[in-house]
Amino acid sequence: MLLEVSGITAAYGSVQVIENVSLSVGEGAAVGILGANGAGKTTTLRAISGTVRVPSGTITFKGQDIRGKRPEEVAALGISHVPEGRGTLPNLTVEENLRVGAYLRKDRSGIETDIAFILELFPNLKRRFTSNGSALSGGEQQMMAIGRAFLAKPTLLVLDEPSLGLAPSTAKDVYAAISRLRLETGIAMLVVEQNANLAFSVVDTAVVLETGRSVLSGSTAELRGNDEIRRAYLGG
Ligand SMILES: Nc1ncnc2c1ncn2[C@@H]1O[C@H](COP(=O)(O)OP(=O)(O)OP(=O)(O)O)[C@@H](O)[C@H]1O
Ligand SMILES: [Mg+2]
Repeated sequence: MLLEVSGITAAYGSVQVIENVSLSVGEGAAVGILGANGAGKTTTLRAISGTVRVPSGTITFKGQDIRGKRPEEVAALGISHVPEGRGTLPNLTVEENLRVGAYLRKDRSGIETDIAFILELFPNLKRRFTSNGSALSGGEQQMMAIGRAFLAKPTLLVLDEPSLGLAPSTAKDVYAAISRLRLETGIAMLVVEQNANLAFSVVDTAVVLETGRSVLSGSTAELRGNDEIRRAYLGG
């Protein structure tokens, strides 16, 4: 397994919000995390990225124990996180935002190839290349955030609700691009999403969180066939 999360708890200060979450992501696999508001999806991603305390459980990445590592160390090992709300830099241009993502890389020509790929994947970013991040639409900011995370050349891309706040057609476009990114690069993905239909357009398997616990996991086909899942996350 590329990433193995087993029985973790997570806490903000003394308040524990995750009780028992387990999931795994294989090499090149795409895994979804489904769950209602407040279920602990974002906290699970933060636990992996090292931005929240994880008092117990294990997290291994490429066979290495990463629980308790600092966010910069986790990133340097090959996990890139596109946070909820995107975390783009509004006063930098699209080009500068993308280059910030590549700051640890030394392979200059590889960086240029990857920027060209992202601009081809997201034509909006090509048109907006010299605009400030603050001038972008919500969808374009999401595209830029994904591009920036990809520029770090990660083994695992972690996406927190890429569809949040986007018009349905824009969300579909963003997911089509995420799908292509996966198919053309073989990068592994961990995708949090409330809209299961969108998530299932990219992931092979998913885990369901309820009040800080992982309660169910399976292939997208298995989850589609589950009545409760259909009612709760697939609109019928
Ligand atoms: N910074 C924080 N400090 C204290 N509690 C927090 C903090 N962030 C989240 N929580 C709490 O932790 C629990 C899990 O929140 P989390 O953000 O992980 O949920 P989520 O599944 O991502 O929800 P959403 O779908 O709304 O994004 C919630 O009860 C939330 O109120
Ligand atoms: Mg969240």
